[in-house]
Amino acid sequence: MSEQTKKENVVLHAKSLSKSYSIVDAPDLKVLNQVNITLHESSSLSIRGDSGCGKSTLLNLLARLEPADEGTIFWGEKRIAAASKPLAVEASWRAKHVGVVYQSYYLIPELNVLENVLMSVRLSGLSIAEYEPRAKELLDQMGVESKSKQIPSKLSGGERQRVAIARALVNRPKVILADEPTGNLDERTGAEIMKLLLNASAKEKTSLILVTHNPSFARATDETSILKDGKLIYE
Ligand SMILES: Nc1ncnc2c1ncn2[C@@H]1O[C@H](COP(=O)(O)OP(=O)(O)OP(=O)(O)O)[C@@H](O)[C@H]1O
Ligand SMILES: [Mg+2]
Repeated sequence: MSEQTKKENVVLHAKSLSKSYSIVDAPDLKVLNQVNITLHESSSLSIRGDSGCGKSTLLNLLARLEPADEGTIFWGEKRIAAASKPLAVEASWRAKHVGVVYQSYYLIPELNVLENVLMSVRLSGLSIAEYEPRAKELLDQMGVESKSKQIPSKLSGGERQRVAIARALVNRPKVILADEPTGNLDERTGAEIMKLLLNASAKEKTSLILVTHNPSFARATDETSILKDGKLIYE
């Protein structure tokens, strides 16, 4: 692959991302120290690391949910100064470019399953009418289409995560950022959900960054890495 083609295929690039937190009556906590990530189209990267090493912080920076201290993030060709405060306009870019899946699902409790998925479409400014068939198809693919009218509190954890994955994929984002998506699930359900996430990402040609404590899930991605002492170490 030529350098030019490689560059064009980069869906997410992070350059020299650093982040510290100030702690009361203690020195600053340096969580990330000059982290670099290059994620190509249709590729996947897993990140493991001890609890508290900064995995969620890193995904939050990549999703632009909080600012870094320094560094640059590229969502495709969109260049973002990572230390800047996230702008309101970025919410709609994010909704189109990045899908996020969390350990705790974060579905909106008052909305039914289909409405939860369509909320993502609404936030991105895409057409609800145009995307509703796709939302239903993704829910079907995730095995929860029959629960479309149900509110999240009436679903099992595994079902909620299926809905969250459909919501993350509906806008055809280039990247999914998944933060321990099976962390709250039993082993068998976790394995099912992981399979769905990996298969759906491959089918949709969406790239994936997967934070997981599970070494066998981590091995299922194209590249594996460990976050340690603020550095991302590629294996
Ligand atoms: N807003 C904040 N203010 C101060 N410290 C924070 C803040 N958010 C996170 N931290 C600290 O930063 C470090 C990294 O936290 P983070 O949640 O990124 O870890 P993690 O690798 O995701 O851990 P886990 O595997 O347990 O989810 C922790 O020591 C945490 O206490
Ligand atoms: Mg975490």
